[in-house]
Amino acid sequence: MARAPLAGAGVPSRRHADAEPASHARALEEDFSSHIVRWQKSHGRHSLPWQNTRDPYRVWLSEIMLQQTQVATVLDYYTRFLQRFPAVADLAAAPLDDVLGLWSGLGYYSRARNLHRCAQEVVRLHGGQFPQNAELLQTLSGIGPSTAAAIASFCFSERVAILDGNVKRVLTRVTAFSGDLASSAQERALWEIATTLLPSRNLADNMPRYTQGVMDLGATICTTRQPSCLLCPVQAMCRGRAGGTPETYPVKTRKLKRSAQSLSLLWAERRDGSVWLERRAAPGIWGGLYCFPVFGSEEDLLAALPVPWQRRLAAIQPFVHVLTHKDLRLSPMVLALSAREAKTAGLPGAGAWFARDAWEGLGLPAPIRKLLLQRQS
Ligand code: ADE
Repeated sequence: MARAPLAGAGVPSRRHADAEPASHARALEEDFSSHIVRWQKSHGRHSLPWQNTRDPYRVWLSEIMLQQTQVATVLDYYTRFLQRFPAVADLAAAPLDDVLGLWSGLGYYSRARNLHRCAQEVVRLHGGQFPQNAELLQTLSGIGPSTAAAIASFCFSERVAILDGNVKRVLTRVTAFSGDLASSAQERALWEIATTLLPSRNLADNMPRYTQGVMDLGATICTTRQPSCLLCPVQAMCRGRAGGTPETYPVKTRKLKRSAQSLSLLWAERRDGSVWLERRAAPGIWGGLYCFPVFGSEEDLLAALPVPWQRRLAAIQPFVHVLTHKDLRLSPMVLALSAREAKTAGLPGAGAWFARDAWEGLGLPAPIRKLLLQRQS
């Protein structure tokens, strides 16, 4: 196929202008990836702590943390994890509670449970070495197709496409892909386009660079609102921009159905500041984490306590904690107990007393951690 000439800035070539998304991607040949690679060298991010390494343990850890979490938040957690667990075998050998404790505050705790399980699978099934291609990587807990592709392209230069939220935005705009990504068939079609657009030369250098570049472009230039098209290295070949409405891509109709739930929390506290926490069952909200006993209503909370204690409850201002699919309206009720009372069997659930200096190392849901920190200061 003849090489499509590059159009001038902001003006798509005629050849690109009337192509369907898939044929537009084919027509671009190496143009798209070579612009991304060049731009990554000059304008992309180069000094994040998980870059400049091809160690799959480090790359995997960063990719799992970066799912649904901003780079700025991940930085500290990533450093602490590596200090505590320098190799995958260290993570595999650690108690799950230690992993959840270190993860505390990053949210989406199923990631931490899968992280631990995955480390154990790497040790048990693969002799402590991560598999070296995306297909095998996907067989491990918590590693989906896009994460597998990120690890395989960064560490082993495999020619495989990632398709996270940032990358979907870039590719649907460049090719004016208007299929509804709520449909798995459309998502597959976009994945094929993503594969077409990958570099096909000098993969050893270009694959890691391209993968990072297309992520960086989505994060910094091709943003959801008000993309900085004038700074974009692929503006000339972008059909979304040519059509004047790049922000309308990607198309995804299915809206998250948000719900709301009210929960009452029993915050029992001893004079020495220790609090009563119970480990919640998984699956379920905050599964595996340590939490105040949770009730569906204030009446249920009251009913779980001896009558004299019910009268001593002090309500704290309720607040809303926002989860992806749900708003949680949390109403903490404080119950101060003497050391003698705390020894009696009046508290519900299979909890235990945790002193202040133990809180730091526990896996706590973010709102509980926040409440306890406010109390401490
Ligand atoms: N998000 C997911 N993976 C990333 C990476 N390697 N660098 C920056 N942001 C990312």
